[in-house]
Amino acid sequence: MDVQKIRKDFPILQREVNGHPLVYFDNAATSQTPLQVIDVIADYYKKYNANIHRGVHTLSQEATDAYEAARQKIQKHFNAAHAHEIIFTSGTTHSINIVSNGYEQLLVPGDELIVSALEHHSNIVPWQMLCEKSGAVLKVIPMNEGGVLLMEEYDKLLSEKTKLVFVNHVSNALGTVNPIAEIIEKAHAVGAEVLIDGAQSAPHIQADVQALGVDYYVTSAHKLCGPTGIGMLYGKASALNRLPPYQGGGEMIAEVTFEKTTYAGLPHKFEAGTPNIAGGIAFGAALDYINSIGMTEIAQYEAELLAYATASLLKIPGVKIYGVAPEKTAVISFNVQGIHPYDIGSILDKMGIAVRTGHHCAQPIMDYYHIPGTVRASLSFYNTYEEIDRMLEALKKAIQMLQ
Ligand code: ALA
Repeated sequence: MDVQKIRKDFPILQREVNGHPLVYFDNAATSQTPLQVIDVIADYYKKYNANIHRGVHTLSQEATDAYEAARQKIQKHFNAAHAHEIIFTSGTTHSINIVSNGYEQLLVPGDELIVSALEHHSNIVPWQMLCEKSGAVLKVIPMNEGGVLLMEEYDKLLSEKTKLVFVNHVSNALGTVNPIAEIIEKAHAVGAEVLIDGAQSAPHIQADVQALGVDYYVTSAHKLCGPTGIGMLYGKASALNRLPPYQGGGEMIAEVTFEKTTYAGLPHKFEAGTPNIAGGIAFGAALDYINSIGMTEIAQYEAELLAYATASLLKIPGVKIYGVAPEKTAVISFNVQGIHPYDIGSILDKMGIAVRTGHHCAQPIMDYYHIPGTVRASLSFYNTYEEIDRMLEALKKAIQMLQ
């Protein structure tokens, strides 16, 4: 991997922030966008902007072909059996809400749903709303101090009452990689379905939905070098066909009369209204870009960056890292004794270094550790060892100023 060459693809990485070259370590919030993807978006608006699936005219057909070609790229990347099992959504949150909303009609009071202690709010709140509406009960797989799920507790939670298990593949707050193959297998053994939130894993770990046998897998393009406002819901056709539509509108119907409407088949049943066409096409381009570098190469380089950053950070007195799972992506959540994470984040920003501070939309994890939040450095394949060194120097200065 030629990181310096790769960095030239990202114009934003050449800019300065507060008089310093940008060090972008907030990749778990959103990744940066390469020219190869930016150009695809610009090309769409410059050359063939039109509504899809509707027009006989050339522009509409070109846009439709590009959008459907992107669906096929996504299908291939995640190894779905059929392109119609890929639903375009506005992102992971939207995807989860399609499933949680649809599940209302599949549940009876007393049914059980299982979530993990490591979830982002987007994989907690929609299910709590579902429990309120359906009378289902939410159970939580606990974690240990290292940020690792207690699988023996998961075993105890599973029963014939369990209808659905939803966990992330990777924790956005700690970087823990969860044992999803085991989670899926055990859920299926009691007849439950599984939804995997791949928002934080898809940029770092290749997921093969058929090999996993997962029922639903969701992710967002903007963590994967694509634009915001576009993501996907993969569902086995048999699983998606059990769910009712999420929104009514144009494109999701077979036939409409004032007496009765019948719905379109997959994927259109879940794609009401004019979609984010440029976004969908750019999602496909982002996967092309990532694959041109190689998922294996990306994972290996990021693991090396993580090991270097972790070892270096731990040499600084007072630093505590939260989340020390044996299997992690390149996310380092840390605090410095006696200093509020927000203060560190603000000073790092003054030195051109972008990190996220706070609870990272994962308040239960912060509650577990009895902390208000952490400083989170989340790395990507376009980051460098020199950037890690710059963060460490800046952190030392921040500590001097704040202690
Ligand atoms: N879920 C994103 C993050 O972890 C926004 O920062």
